[in-house]
Amino acid sequence: MSTPRAKPKYYLTTPLYYTNGMPHIGHTYSTIVADVIRRYKRMRGFDAFMTTGADEHGVNVERSAQKAGKSPQEFSTEIAVQWRRLWDDLGIPGDEFIRTTDEKHHRTVQWLFKRCRDNGFIEKGRYTGQYCVHDNAYVVDAGPGDACPDCGRPTETVTEENYFFKLSEFQQKLLDFYAANPDFIQPESRRNEVLSFVKGGLKNLSITRTTIRWGIPVPGEAPHVFYVWFDALIGYLSAVGGPNYDQRGLWPADLHIVGKEIIRFHAVYWPAFLMAADLPLPEQIWAHGWLLFDSEKMSKSRGNVVRPRPIVNAIGIEPLRYYLLREIVFGQDGSFSYDALVTRYNSDLANGLGNLASRTLTMIERYFGSEIPKPAPARGGETDAPSTAEFANEALTKVMHLYDRFSFSLALESIWEIVAMIDKYITVEKPWALAEKPEDRARLATVLYTAAEGLRIVTALAHPVLPLATQKIWDQLGQTEPLSGVQLDLLSWGQLKPGTKTGKPEGIFPRVDKSETIARIEAMEQEQNKVPETPAVAAPSAAAGTGAGAAPAVAASAKIGIEDFAKVEMRVGQVKTAERVAGADRLLQLQVDIGDEVRQIVAGLALAYKPEDLVGRKVVVVTNLQPRKLRGVESNGMIVAASTPDGAPVLAGFLEDVPVGAKLK
Ligand code: MSP
Repeated sequence: MSTPRAKPKYYLTTPLYYTNGMPHIGHTYSTIVADVIRRYKRMRGFDAFMTTGADEHGVNVERSAQKAGKSPQEFSTEIAVQWRRLWDDLGIPGDEFIRTTDEKHHRTVQWLFKRCRDNGFIEKGRYTGQYCVHDNAYVVDAGPGDACPDCGRPTETVTEENYFFKLSEFQQKLLDFYAANPDFIQPESRRNEVLSFVKGGLKNLSITRTTIRWGIPVPGEAPHVFYVWFDALIGYLSAVGGPNYDQRGLWPADLHIVGKEIIRFHAVYWPAFLMAADLPLPEQIWAHGWLLFDSEKMSKSRGNVVRPRPIVNAIGIEPLRYYLLREIVFGQDGSFSYDALVTRYNSDLANGLGNLASRTLTMIERYFGSEIPKPAPARGGETDAPSTAEFANEALTKVMHLYDRFSFSLALESIWEIVAMIDKYITVEKPWALAEKPEDRARLATVLYTAAEGLRIVTALAHPVLPLATQKIWDQLGQTEPLSGVQLDLLSWGQLKPGTKTGKPEGIFPRVDKSETIARIEAMEQEQNKVPETPAVAAPSAAAGTGAGAAPAVAASAKIGIEDFAKVEMRVGQVKTAERVAGADRLLQLQVDIGDEVRQIVAGLALAYKPEDLVGRKVVVVTNLQPRKLRGVESNGMIVAASTPDGAPVLAGFLEDVPVGAKLK
């Protein structure tokens, strides 16, 4: 029996992220996209509900916990809390944050397994094969010593007695399902990929493990625990009622948003598990592409990740949302670049929407005492409101159609065409000149009404992507109904009421200096990277503002044991060469002799030290950090410096002479 709903429901999910590391901009992209869809669906009359969460079991988390000297539960909880806090700080929290360690999730997994077993789709068997620890997956065609085809890491040979899910029995059922539901897998390229995989034949799938302990126990079958992917997918269902899903009325999901590398789990295994358990299947799986940095997938292991907090602290969350949705064609891979981010910010937000809002509202304040003027009836011949109205009404339909297809980039392009159209209209009509002549007063009223009405429509259409900034403009336009409650299909030209009091025009997106902003992001990133990715230390909190930024909160200092300190290897290094990194005001690229090798290190020292003054200088180098790229240049270590209140670093050094390569203890 389901709860009656006033509005149709729309249930969507992000992937449940692993708790063996902290989010980067790739994860943030998935969650932002889901949030945009949630907001858009709400503006189309749906009761939209979004689940995100943490995927906490498996070998990876178990091993990371071991390294950190913590129990998996303790380790994973600390990381899950940080993920959740980040989504809150960025204004993109799930309506439900499911953790796969939640009791309700355990119950749901065990219940679903029993249903599959009772229906005859589970059997016991032995498995010997290659396993990729990183991807938590058996590599079917690999032999001993082979690398994982997905991540390139060496696979491990394992032999286990497992419970198997009879996936092979679902080949035809899945193919029939895909044929009957052609939109189930999106985009088309992924659908084709999945179809050919399934047509190639499906092998039974081992869904329990005896080699690890950190997992959900298979009831009555100790020491078996569930395979992490069997467990994790079920999280989407545990989040909305589990065995009692029909009481919440949210299941089946309308949409699972995933990255392309996990499409098979979602489009093949997941529907098969649900079919076996006799449960309703999700409506759609949408696989987006990857964010690339320097042409490679951004990932922690490649050392090329970009974190969201420094960007948000420097420029705000809304520019990041806009950039990701405007610049990356949803479904395809796209390159991430700070340069393009700041360029988009200045051109489309500061000079585009922000400028349109401020010039329109300022002129209404100046010429009409902050009151929306009444447009004069059209006389014909002028560049008048009716043609603008027609353009905007057509654009409204077009933009909704594009949002419906998740063509975010094109939707934003169309919205910004309206911005450009109104800007041009203002430039052609020159309201400042009309204001000079009393006989042009009626025309002036028409022009400013038209600009304000266009701005109102643009603001509503851009709301799913820019929720905070558009709400501010909406308020300034004197609109009292919350923008999130506006129904886009009821929006049409001419609803702006003359006489409405407008608010004080306020800059929404101040222009920023590109190189200074990028330098700030990079400096904050460097600062953040000094904090090891262990959950014991809190990451700086981000400002969820619309525009340029707030300072990061101070990281909570926690006490560590001597064994933690001993993990950091520091040596005396000597700078051999130093040069500036092109386009980065703060960064220097150094070659540093650390005794047995010369390391390339990129350091944020340029504001305090000239490159030539550093050559020959002895410095303290952290030598066992993962390499990473800064502005495309690989950095293999870190130079230790004190942070001063004005932000200028001061290098750590020695009063006595010390040999190069000496270790610090
Ligand atoms: N825990 C599994 C998902 C289980 S869902 C029941 C998992 N977790 S993950 O932490 O590795 O997150 C993977 C997801 O993060 C991807 O599917 C994608 O949504 C996002 N991204 C991670 N790196 C990415 C990029 N470089 N670019 C875009 N998105 C990426 O897999």
